[in-house]
Amino acid sequence: MIDNKKVLVAYFSRTDEQYSVGNITEGNTAIIAYMIADKTQGNLFEIKVKNDSYPKTYHALTEYARSEKQSHQRPELVQKVENFDQYDTIFIGYPNWCGDMPMPVYTFLESYDFANKDVHHFCTHEGSGGVKEGFAIYGHTAQKNRVEADKKVSEWLKTLGY
Ligand SMILES: Cc1cc2nc3c(=O)[nH]c(=O)nc-3n(C[C@H](O)[C@H](O)[C@H](O)COP(=O)(O)O)c2cc1C
Repeated sequence: MIDNKKVLVAYFSRTDEQYSVGNITEGNTAIIAYMIADKTQGNLFEIKVKNDSYPKTYHALTEYARSEKQSHQRPELVQKVENFDQYDTIFIGYPNWCGDMPMPVYTFLESYDFANKDVHHFCTHEGSGGVKEGFAIYGHTAQKNRVEADKKVSEWLKTLGY
């Protein structure tokens, strides 16, 4: 915890057959979520869908996920975060599914007001990555201190390989 800021670690993760690890009983993303919660003294929240009918084999799951994405589904979730307003910082974790976030994560993101909260994404993947380093800068720096702004933009782009 930093400066008494309350942390929520929300994550979506699957068990059963997953790419390159076979049958797992703890989801890959869940494992990372537990680590983050432990290190930040955050509360864990699993993004779980109602009437879960996700296939338990990898290939069937990719087909299912692709069709869910193509039809822009917003699967209903089983629970809401209790007293969401109490949190200052939200970590949101998910597996990369077809180069995107799983649709239930969109349901989650669209269910709350994230204004005035610090939001950090994390993701697990098998090669495509997914979360890139973001960039934030004061508007007044962009406007009135372009040398400084230019330096900061360069530093950020350098971390992306430009
Ligand atoms: C439906 C589906 C789609 C996937 N699509 C991608 C992908 O596009 N790129 C990638 O790098 N990994 C992809 N993966 C691999 C997962 O991101 C990776 O195995 C992840 O760690 C699974 O996390 P979980 O156990 O928390 O669900 C996909 C896995 C599934 C099940």
